[in-house]
Amino acid sequence: MKKACVMGHPIAHSRSPMIHGYWLKTLGIEGAYEAKDLRPDEFVPFISNLAANGYVGGNVTVPHKEAAYRAVSARDAASEAVGAVNTLWLESGKLMGGNSDVHGFIANLDDRAPGWNVAGCRALVLGAGGASRSAVYAFQQRGIEVHVVNRTLARAQELAQRFGARAYGWNDLAKLLPRADVLVNCTSLGMTGKEALQVDLGPLNRSAVVYDIVYVPLETALLAQARQRGHRTVDGLGMLLQQAGFGFRKWFGGDPRVMPELRQIVEADILAKSSK
Ligand code: ATR
Repeated sequence: MKKACVMGHPIAHSRSPMIHGYWLKTLGIEGAYEAKDLRPDEFVPFISNLAANGYVGGNVTVPHKEAAYRAVSARDAASEAVGAVNTLWLESGKLMGGNSDVHGFIANLDDRAPGWNVAGCRALVLGAGGASRSAVYAFQQRGIEVHVVNRTLARAQELAQRFGARAYGWNDLAKLLPRADVLVNCTSLGMTGKEALQVDLGPLNRSAVVYDIVYVPLETALLAQARQRGHRTVDGLGMLLQQAGFGFRKWFGGDPRVMPELRQIVEADILAKSSK
């Protein structure tokens, strides 16, 4: 029986076993998908012996994505571009690395806000960390003009230079909002347990789409504000679901799809845990 796993530290919160477990069951594939808590000193030795450890591949999450990037034998174009690997698989015994967040980010936008890519579309991305890199690269691949706003201007500049975007500090936000067609939160702000993201959407055009990659809570304060103002909104859960099929196909084959039932199952789990 083929086995895959998600590797991180900590890992108990991961919804990946639920997502892959759903597909294994509904597609009738004999396989297993487990959660592995690996400390940084354990991670590289573990993936270097993935087959001997009983796995055909897996997902990589915080804090191991950069270590995975360095450890693999070969990488796909997306992971090469963003400098992080979140999916591992074996090819002729070699450890391969890919990044499914790039695809997941844009597939979710296509799915939840069809037609978002208007003529002359301009995306405004908040944040300049790892998540922003996937978003900015995905937009760049679609030929979208991107403006990056970050608290630390130097990080925004570095990211902008890498992907041909423009960089701004937080104080420029109000000035940039009126010309944005898609606004994306890629900071960690607004996540349960983190500080709130304070953005006044007043200057944003009503036709603009507002996307938050945070998915706990499912509806962040940013998305609630956007919904109340009549914007189309896109939440981060769809990105998690949309990115997962990439690895599943490599390890198990089949045709994993993001069905409404799958979304409902994961949503119910998030809601149940956040009410505790
Ligand atoms: P990830 O890999 O999840 O993107 P990260 O690399 O730690 O995580 O990036 C977090 C992002 O949230 C960064 O853009 C960070 O801004 P800085 O580059 O200035 O650190 C942003 N962020 C985190 N806390 C913030 C806060 N209190 N105010 C504004 N931005 C914040």
